[in-house]
Amino acid sequence: MLITLEGLDGSGKTTVWEALHDSHPEATFTREPTESWYGEAVNRAIDDDGADPLATLFLFTADHADHLSRTIRPALENDELVISDRYSDSRYAYQAAALSGSDLTRPMEYIRGIHSAFTREPDKTIYIDVDPETAAARSGSTNQFEDAAFLAQVESNYERLIDAEPERFVRVDGTQSPEAVIDTVEDVVDRLRGSQS
Ligand code: TYD
Repeated sequence: MLITLEGLDGSGKTTVWEALHDSHPEATFTREPTESWYGEAVNRAIDDDGADPLATLFLFTADHADHLSRTIRPALENDELVISDRYSDSRYAYQAAALSGSDLTRPMEYIRGIHSAFTREPDKTIYIDVDPETAAARSGSTNQFEDAAFLAQVESNYERLIDAEPERFVRVDGTQSPEAVIDTVEDVVDRLRGSQS
């Protein structure tokens, strides 16, 4: 089973993902961007405010392809529980926002189309919900993707994704205390595991 964690920068999803290591030590924990050289290239693009957004999309997508073949598919074939901190929805939400002023008429559909040929959809996606102002304040707005106005566009893209596939998403209120968010997510993962066996 593949469970992904999504949310705006500063939503607290990485803290939750780290806490899940203790409650579900049997799971395979992974993340995007990855730690491969593809992920390093992605991180260079994130830190370069002048990076071309279409080029950045393809770097993220290359990292995803490598992540699938090297980590995700082998673990799923081994019947493992895989928990990924960010996954393809991050591209659908963030790169669709980054490409909103480009020549592409429907950036989200375009990005989904590129992925659909080769990706593996998550079984469940836990969306940690915080408003863009809280997200920008918590993340410190240190890179091009952490500005409140940009995050407002990313948030509305995530809402479109949730509206399109409400059965895949579980929404968790990220404005609760970190302990409450962690407890809620641990319960969700326990229930999903239980429903599988
Ligand atoms: P991440 O390392 O998850 O940052 P954080 O832990 O602060 O959430 O992601 C780095 C940045 O890259 C973040 O601003 C979100 C962005 N991002 C995309 O724009 N598209 C993607 O596909 C992914 C995986 C991340």
